[in-house]
Amino acid sequence: MTLIAETKNLTRRYGTSLAIDNINLEIPQSAIYGFIGPNGAGKTTTMRILTTLLLPTSGQAWVAGHSVTREPLAVRRMVGFMPDFFGVYDNMKSWEYLEFFAAAYGVPAARRSNLIGELLELVDLGHKRDAYVMDLSRGMKQRLSLARTMAHNPELLILDEPASGLDPRARVELRELLKELQALGKTIMISSHILTELAEVCTHIGIIENGHLLASGDVQTIMRSLQPHRIYEVHLLSDLAAAAALVVDMPGVLDVRVLSEAMPPMIQIDHEGDDQSVSAVLQRLISGGAVVTHFAGQVSDLEEVFMRVTAQHVQPQPAGAG
Ligand SMILES: Nc1ncnc2c1ncn2[C@@H]1O[C@H](COP(=O)(O)OP(=O)(O)OP(=O)(O)O)[C@@H](O)[C@H]1O
Ligand SMILES: [Mg+2]
Repeated sequence: MTLIAETKNLTRRYGTSLAIDNINLEIPQSAIYGFIGPNGAGKTTTMRILTTLLLPTSGQAWVAGHSVTREPLAVRRMVGFMPDFFGVYDNMKSWEYLEFFAAAYGVPAARRSNLIGELLELVDLGHKRDAYVMDLSRGMKQRLSLARTMAHNPELLILDEPASGLDPRARVELRELLKELQALGKTIMISSHILTELAEVCTHIGIIENGHLLASGDVQTIMRSLQPHRIYEVHLLSDLAAAAALVVDMPGVLDVRVLSEAMPPMIQIDHEGDDQSVSAVLQRLISGGAVVTHFAGQVSDLEEVFMRVTAQHVQPQPAGAG
């Protein structure tokens, strides 16, 4: 696994307050890495360090092997950053805006005109080429801002809350665009405080809260590690209690509930263990004569996992605090 971005014990203080505390991130090449956490968690701080806009207090960060503190210019060539706000650009047309940034990034003049056309097409703003930036809708500004981050063809795109303020349709379009960019070989780090917004597109996630990274890795691994215990629903045409009795003492089975009033009638098995032991439970049911029509683990989505992880870290307020 090649890492495009990595941090080791990355720490940043503002005065005496600790914004991020010993963060160890690994972002593999070609990932869509969702960086998720509530307001004030430290997302923007981490992203600004990775883009060399902010120095760490201690610890290190690398992009494509280049240190953000020792080789900031090399890092900047590799990274495109979309900040969480859109600056004010009076009297500037969309194409002029991109021209300005392409020139700033050192794209040769002869190449710029084609590049601007390509970028506007990519973000679906070809028809707004001559519109003034200030007259674009918020979603269009976001897309123009995204186009700008790609002007120097960076390997890694760091997008700070690109979906905030977008309507549902624009959010869907943004997700599609992210997938397109990934298909073009880009790696994307994208922050949000809303997990469902990212659940569908992310290959990896990091969950940050209060400056601490609570979980990080590929989506499947995180889901599995956070739900060691799962509930399996078994629908049966045969006697429920008899089926429950077959499996109640098996390894990994924590509890079995008989839900004869449910539609359809079922048993629910609380299970903790690997796939082998799940499979053994099903085999025992069948060989014991149970007539199974459905056997499936309840799915919990990323949102649920997020709530569970962050809930474990909620600090109780001391009495009288406020
Ligand atoms: N320039 C600054 N000066 C002092 N404190 C700051 C500064 N920038 C951020 N902080 C503090 O650092 C912590 C992390 O802020 P950061 O902006 O990184 O969070 P975030 O996860 O991006 O939040 P949001 O979802 O609101 O954008 C917060 O407690 C914030 O108050
Ligand atoms: Mg932020």
